[in-house]
Amino acid sequence: MDYREIIGLVHSTRPMILNGSQSLEVTKKGPADFVTQVDFMVQDYIAGELKKQYPDVQIMSEEKENRGIDFSKPVWILDPIDGTTNLVHNFHHSAVSLAFYNGKELEFGIIYNPYSEETFYAIANQGCYLNDERIFVSNTTLLKDSLVMVGTASYYKEMGGNIFADIFEIYMQCQDVRRTGSAALDLAYVACGRVEGFFERSLKPWDIAAGMLLVKEAGGKVSSFEGKELFLDRNNDIVAGNKEIHEKLLEIIMRR
Ligand code: IPD
Ligand code: CA
Ligand code: CA
Repeated sequence: MDYREIIGLVHSTRPMILNGSQSLEVTKKGPADFVTQVDFMVQDYIAGELKKQYPDVQIMSEEKENRGIDFSKPVWILDPIDGTTNLVHNFHHSAVSLAFYNGKELEFGIIYNPYSEETFYAIANQGCYLNDERIFVSNTTLLKDSLVMVGTASYYKEMGGNIFADIFEIYMQCQDVRRTGSAALDLAYVACGRVEGFFERSLKPWDIAAGMLLVKEAGGKVSSFEGKELFLDRNNDIVAGNKEIHEKLLEIIMRR
């Protein structure tokens, strides 16, 4: 696997995203759930190139049919635009998220923010990088000194009460919370230590696959709300952080 080539491929979507977001056609998939022609353009381009280079690797991607993916074999897991609501609002905080699962484990992950030109990537057992500089999770161990990213799972408004109850509980014990609208970048920010933790319910595999590897390779921890392993073939509730803050967030969430 030529990771440099994959990173280059992801970078080459920048003009598509920056120019495309000037004249967006927005289609609603559900409450607070949008897709634009930029999502399709980026998906078709990346998936097309990956198929040419790696014809035997399956592709799971948000804006396509993903039935029949076999996780005992290699899979690319792509979110062409993570943060589509931000894109629609010209909020300049969205990312391309791409992971490679080799049939046994996540081997590579990249999260690219074309606005800030920040490239977060990780290779299994070889560390996590931001624009080629090695990065690590924060070493702040106290929740009261921590900044925590939260997600509102906005497609599932019926869960709002519980979601905001968790957020309230944690907000009262940490320094402050942030809601940015891109779960992939939330995980990348945990990996580079800008924030100490992140949690959100019901995320899709493409929201978290690359970010899971990033956080792990940066020395942090990811788990379900029960402290268990996450799965790439279903929705997951995710808690991420440096080891201490991950544990504290889990404690609070599990107590509720
Ligand atoms: C969404 C973003 C958002 C999260 C949602 C995701 P999308 O992805 O990651 O932060 O709260 O749950 O679905 O729809 O922009 O690819
Ligand atoms: Ca997403
Ligand atoms: Ca998306």
